[in-house]
Amino acid sequence: MPGDLIDGKKIADDVRSELKGRIAELATRGTVPGLAAILVGEDPASRLYVKMKGKASEEMGLAHWTVELPADASERRLLDEIDRLNADPKVHGILVQQPLPPQIGVDAAVSSVDPDKDVDCFHPTNVGLVLIGRPRFAPATPAGVVELLLRSGNSPDRKDVVILGRSNIVGKPLAALLMQKARGANATVTVAHSATRELAAHTRRADILVAAMGSPRFVTADMVRDGVVVIDVGINRIPDPKAKSGSRTVGDVDFDAVRRKAKAISPVPGGVGPMTIAMLLSNTVRAAEMATPS
Ligand code: GUN
Repeated sequence: MPGDLIDGKKIADDVRSELKGRIAELATRGTVPGLAAILVGEDPASRLYVKMKGKASEEMGLAHWTVELPADASERRLLDEIDRLNADPKVHGILVQQPLPPQIGVDAAVSSVDPDKDVDCFHPTNVGLVLIGRPRFAPATPAGVVELLLRSGNSPDRKDVVILGRSNIVGKPLAALLMQKARGANATVTVAHSATRELAAHTRRADILVAAMGSPRFVTADMVRDGVVVIDVGINRIPDPKAKSGSRTVGDVDFDAVRRKAKAISPVPGGVGPMTIAMLLSNTVRAAEMATPS
């Protein structure tokens, strides 16, 4: 029997529905939550992600703005835009889409966003608050992974979780969330990465395996044990002569083969992606609540 499908679209819809009451409550206090995205350059994937975030905001009745800067924009230009959005009371959430072009420092960009508007949860202060278990915002993709686990009946509590990938956006903050002494966390976490020896020895021990290293179909069936729960964070484009566009999106997991051994598995697309957007909207609503006197 193949493992259950963890349906990120359905779970993201549930999360979004749960936000509606809070958005209505804010409306009674005269606040429409507003999200501003800054897009630097022409990267097609980044452009698509920002467009999807804008569309999702609109569907929920949130205000949203996209600030587009040319690929050769200076760091100063970006920081000036961030300052302008920091000062605008209609803007409750600001995100700077990554990756950024090489002339712009990621650290300078994320540190310039007002921590109270940092709905990506990338500002060093907010990262630190997550680490000590007092989050102001939930890091969107890691929080989406946790929601997928909890709402599919696969709590990480007391489980061995192996995370593949140590990025600042996924691997590190996810490890911080899952290791907290808290309901829905409490896992024993291993973070494996490009310098890990005997990688498969780690992955085969996992009750829950999270693949987030950005290598198409890297995790194969021989690397997991029977009954594993797999969350695939990867989004990779690979050539596909049968597709109209000539390419298609796959995750970091060899989905069909791994599913045969898994208890449950999230697909790509339709797994973590929709959750990241739902958690971003949730953070924007939270930012608006924090900025609105009761
Ligand atoms: N690039 C890849 N993932 C993300 C994300 O969650 N937020 C932003 N701003 N950029 C990204």
